[in-house]
Amino acid sequence: MRVLLITGKGGVGKTTVAAATALRAAEQGHRTLVMSTDPAHSLADAFAVALGDEPTEVIPGLAGQQIDAQRRLESHWGTVRDYLAELFDWGGATGIAAEELVVFPGMDELFALAEVQDHVTSGDFDTLVVDCAPTAETLRLLSLPDALGWYMEKLFPLERRVARVVRPVLKRVMSMPLPGDDVFQAGEGFYGRIEGVRRVLASPEITSARLVMNLEKMVVAEARRTYTYLGLFGYAVDAAIVNRIIPEAVTDPYFKRWRELQAEHLATVEDAFADLALLRLRLFDEEMVGVDKLRLVGEELYGDRDPTSRLAVNAPFRVFDLDDEVVLALRLPLAERGEVDVVRHHDEVYVTVGPYRRSLVLPDSLRRREVIGARLTEGELWVRFGVRDE
Ligand SMILES: Nc1ncnc2c1ncn2[C@@H]1O[C@H](COP(=O)(O)OP(=O)(O)O)[C@@H](O)[C@H]1O
Ligand SMILES: [Mg+2]
Repeated sequence: MRVLLITGKGGVGKTTVAAATALRAAEQGHRTLVMSTDPAHSLADAFAVALGDEPTEVIPGLAGQQIDAQRRLESHWGTVRDYLAELFDWGGATGIAAEELVVFPGMDELFALAEVQDHVTSGDFDTLVVDCAPTAETLRLLSLPDALGWYMEKLFPLERRVARVVRPVLKRVMSMPLPGDDVFQAGEGFYGRIEGVRRVLASPEITSARLVMNLEKMVVAEARRTYTYLGLFGYAVDAAIVNRIIPEAVTDPYFKRWRELQAEHLATVEDAFADLALLRLRLFDEEMVGVDKLRLVGEELYGDRDPTSRLAVNAPFRVFDLDDEVVLALRLPLAERGEVDVVRHHDEVYVTVGPYRRSLVLPDSLRRREVIGARLTEGELWVRFGVRDE
């Protein structure tokens, strides 16, 4: 089973790439489902077929699904939400405010993603291609169980036992709404689902994320941040997909400057995503809609490669505490010894070891710390960050 997450900023070509990837996988014999969790669905438009909330055949061997996130949220979280709303209401927060408190941003998409796990378990498909929402916000949310797992394991069962005993008593003495068993069950179901999907998405053998970008400053910057955060949360990225490259054949002077700019950004991309497969897609002279055109897109993107394979196997970096310091360990398999140069510039580090160059956008947690040293140990470069400067 393989899960491919296609992500990137809005408008870069995620849906096109997801649809083309799925089509190519299906035509190579993999039973494939492409599903969209982006609330701005356009998968049906890309294939020029009608798609709904359940998997629908596009061509034999390929199904498409546009998830109704709101509906999923309702069916899995409804009970808990109703209770919390009642509780907040009791505490004085009313109407809209309570609603805001119990459904946090991105939560609906989280439920859409939870659907991934159902498909993995069902065994109906060999390959799942997910057309994700514009940012990695959801993947950030998926790491919630790390923090909330403690609550679930330690507190929730306890609270539940206590509630069983005190509920009948308390109900009589005060009016605070107490959660019923159905609420606890729904709460547990919620965390169980999220934990399940996180496990699937964080297994590099199963899931690879692919970052789609265009050669524009802001878009590349966003892709780099996403790459950092995916790595930080333990999700494997195997490819950077550069879309809308102006072809060499375009010699119109109007596009000359654009071509130069694209070349500059491409150099940045090659540095920043050095350990990923780099897939390129030219700017076509028309919209790439419908199965026939998407087939061309898939061909150009993957060539001889199997689109479902792991296109790059890497462990981009780890972050861990070492006494008062924090170490950022970058894998540099090619770097034996030689001049190590680490330069910090705002929220980025640039690493040069001999001929090998890498750059990485720092996660927020490291941004407020100073680089105090660096050394090579067994194929890894350890960059040491000192105590936080206040
Ligand atoms: N390389 C390309 N050449 C020409 N048109 C493209 C290319 N990539 C995407 N498009 C078109 O651009 C539009 C937006 O692409 P889409 O895949 O929907 O982006 P996203 O899902 O990232 O918002 C679509 O109409 C699509 O057909
Ligand atoms: Mg889209």
